[in-house]
Amino acid sequence: TNDIFILAIESSCDETSAAVIADGKVLNNIVATQSVHEKYGGVVPELASRAHQENLIPVVQEAILSSGISKDQLSAVAFTRGPGLMGSLLVGVSFAKAFAFAKKIPLIEVNHMNAHILAHFIEEPKPNFPFICLTVSGGHTQLVLVKDHLDMEVIGETQDDAVGEAFDKTAKLLGLPYPGGPLIDKYAKEGNSKAFQFPITRMPELNYSFSGIKTAVLYFLRDQLKENPKFIEENLADLCASIQYALVEMLLIKLKAAVKQYGVKEVAIAGGVSANSGLRETLTKLAAQKGWNLYIPKFEYCTDNAAMIAMAAHFKYLKGEFSSMDVTPLAKMKI
Ligand code: KG4
Ligand code: ZN
Repeated sequence: TNDIFILAIESSCDETSAAVIADGKVLNNIVATQSVHEKYGGVVPELASRAHQENLIPVVQEAILSSGISKDQLSAVAFTRGPGLMGSLLVGVSFAKAFAFAKKIPLIEVNHMNAHILAHFIEEPKPNFPFICLTVSGGHTQLVLVKDHLDMEVIGETQDDAVGEAFDKTAKLLGLPYPGGPLIDKYAKEGNSKAFQFPITRMPELNYSFSGIKTAVLYFLRDQLKENPKFIEENLADLCASIQYALVEMLLIKLKAAVKQYGVKEVAIAGGVSANSGLRETLTKLAAQKGWNLYIPKFEYCTDNAAMIAMAAHFKYLKGEFSSMDVTPLAKMKI
């Protein structure tokens, strides 16, 4: 038979993940989340590398075992080449190389940002080409024109912080643990988004800037805390709702502009922040109002995972796009 079985590894940041895909169908998605970073208020690169080193083999073993496919049946091994933390990427790349060498199978490098978008092809409904994807994560905020599985163009992006970073850094100012994004989301549900006004930064063209809101929140809290030391705890839900409102507004202003400029009504979101319920709700309403076809991935495929790496690898396998043994990880890597 010509079945295509691929083992895929993701280790670009703080999730160690492995997945097996058979003929384009993802069989599993094993993710080990690293909790060591919580007490530091952010990902500590050295600790992330060490945790990958510990978790990778058990995670791969579980993925292979639960797939029902033996190691010897694998057609290729795929890994995240970048962008990401150098030490974390190195663990995945080294493992994939050794595995490919031992099993005498091809290596497939995957771009992490490309893969976040290709997560839309894991399950139905799949977007039609061309579509516009807003990719929002802890490291990136990009508007991408997706012309084909492996043909993508960045049409706008953040000039400073990523939106996930803005969620996490403002959450930290509120005294919330890392990663604060999901907690802002949770508390925002009970809050009034109009309670406080935070600035909506408008950058030229389809670009973003998320560093201003962090400073605005910092000064606002400093002034309020002088008057009332309990200001944060008394207003936590309203603060979260107001911050989330400003961030979602900024994301959607440029998404609307991109749709208009390119005349494309197939719209998707991807990346960790696409798990945000405020973004999902507002975008769902907007899409209905504008007549867009909107695609939102399952939560499991929003945050970092190897299933999306496997999906990207499948498309690359079909095109015969393999990597050589001297491939190196890239901390920065263009889509
Ligand atoms: O894609 P991802 O898992 O990792 C990167 O490649 O960065 O994204 C992680 C980011 C973090 O900043 C996290 O706070 C944010 O996604 N995030 C959220 C939510 N879930 C994850 N931000 C807001 N609301 C959420 N529900
Ligand atoms: Zn990611």
